[in-house]
Amino acid sequence: MEESPGGPSQKKVVAVVGGGLVGALNACFFAKRGFDVELFETREDIRQAKIVRGRSINLALSHRGRQALKHVGMEEKIVSQGIPMHARMIHSLNGKQSPIPYGKKGQAKRENNRLVIYLSSYPVKLMCRVNFVFLRSDGSEEQVEADLIVGCDGAFSAIRKQFLRRSRFNYSQTYIPHGYMELTMPPINGEFAMKPNYLHIWPRNTFMMIALPNLDKTFTCTLFMPFEEFEKITTGDEVIEFFQKYFPDAIPLIGVDALKRDYFRLPAQAMVSVKCSPYHIGSKCVLMGDAAHAVVPFYGQGMNAGFEDCIVFDEIMEQFNEDFSAVLPEYTRVRVPDDHAIADLAMYNYIEMRAHVNSKWFLFRKHIDNLLHFLMPKTIIPLYTMVTFTRTRYHEAVARWHWQDRVINRGLLFSATGALLGGSFLLIKNPPDINKLLVPAEKMWSRLVALRTS
Ligand SMILES: Cc1cc2nc3c(=O)[nH]c(=O)nc-3n(C[C@H](O)[C@H](O)[C@H](O)COP(=O)(O)OP(=O)(O)OC[C@H]3O[C@@H](n4cnc5c(N)ncnc54)[C@H](O)[C@@H]3O)c2cc1C
Ligand SMILES: *[C@@H]1O[C@H](CO)[C@@H](O)[C@H](O)[C@H]1NC(C)=O
Repeated sequence: MEESPGGPSQKKVVAVVGGGLVGALNACFFAKRGFDVELFETREDIRQAKIVRGRSINLALSHRGRQALKHVGMEEKIVSQGIPMHARMIHSLNGKQSPIPYGKKGQAKRENNRLVIYLSSYPVKLMCRVNFVFLRSDGSEEQVEADLIVGCDGAFSAIRKQFLRRSRFNYSQTYIPHGYMELTMPPINGEFAMKPNYLHIWPRNTFMMIALPNLDKTFTCTLFMPFEEFEKITTGDEVIEFFQKYFPDAIPLIGVDALKRDYFRLPAQAMVSVKCSPYHIGSKCVLMGDAAHAVVPFYGQGMNAGFEDCIVFDEIMEQFNEDFSAVLPEYTRVRVPDDHAIADLAMYNYIEMRAHVNSKWFLFRKHIDNLLHFLMPKTIIPLYTMVTFTRTRYHEAVARWHWQDRVINRGLLFSATGALLGGSFLLIKNPPDINKLLVPAEKMWSRLVALRTS
């Protein structure tokens, strides 16, 4: 331990930059360890603000995020304000609704963006409206000295920009062609307009809409669509025409006038995926949350991964006795493969959610996977379950998923082969009208072979 001159050892100062979801929680983690925490946030303190401007998206809080909240004693406070979601509800073009359960274990939760409120439980100094200019010595009054700078300043992180100037820093960013737009579905006679405990999905191949319940009985609908499609629609009547074609059952629920108006309220928002490595500079600076790994929102894991960053960092702090020069490189070593894996999975789901949810084979495999999980809960665990309801490391979940997939497809192939051989045996013993039987068997076989090679 370093002793400061002439006194007892001084508390180390941790500067957390960005008081969004991850920064606010991280500040609590460091405060809990007894550090002197200073939180820098450019926006005003929403605990004091009369009107909170800007966006407040609904978020699915699942196991990883909950574990992190639990660590700082906030799980119950937050979860009690959420709405549990038990399944997905698929809306087809003709208005039919069919639920797809998440598997037998647990449930996902949606949560409003109100986490910062709970900061008040910890002694964290919140510095508002400070534009934290890191590594610049132009005499700015706001300059601070810190033993550790934690960059939690989101997908367009200013702290990360400093990393980009350095050598041996890998960085990639990808904007997907889709944008998103939020629309509100009001309550009907004071009640939810649709069943509340579901993630409602309208999959339409190249685009889709989802809807999530809020505590005030409204739903927030999010329309995901390529920017060029958004831009094609320029009048209120075209909005209605478009919804009539793809989401007819949603029109009366959102309301014709609201739809015509709200579609043009804000332009569609872009979605970016950011990967980088390493996450640290020496023993002084580290990135967490979206600053380290912005992911597209199609696995509902962005915030959860960011919250898990906080636990992983805390576990490593424990392991290395809070020695930053050992903790930071270890954090990069452990966390980069996992965050990259969830970024890839989210991108994969971007395709799955739009296209495969409609496919019979996808649904069949989902049922088989859930059935096998029920029969052999320790051996076969659906990917979604590992990601959403456990803390299995993301990259291990992906490896295991590939392994299970091979085993299950092979199993299906063997059972089908067995059925065919059994069938042929009966045929030889008991020759019937061959033409009638062989045609479907052949079809089945070629389907399985196609699967195996795909
Ligand atoms: C449509 C959509 C749906 C999503 N759904 C889910 C979901 O269901 N589940 C889930 O887990 N995740 C979801 N996410 C992802 C989730 O929103 C993000 O992963 C999460 O907000 C990241 O938190 P963060 O604190 O790292 O960054 P942010 O929430 O972006 O916070 C960054 C903060 O830093 C501040 N800041 C920026 N620059 C500076 C600076 N220079 N100085 C000081 N402060 C600064 C900003 O004002 C902001 O408050 C979704 C994202 C989108 C876009
Ligand atoms: C950068 O990416 C390359 C190629 O994937 C990899 O071999 C290398 O280890 C990465 N470097 C860092 C610092 O992560």
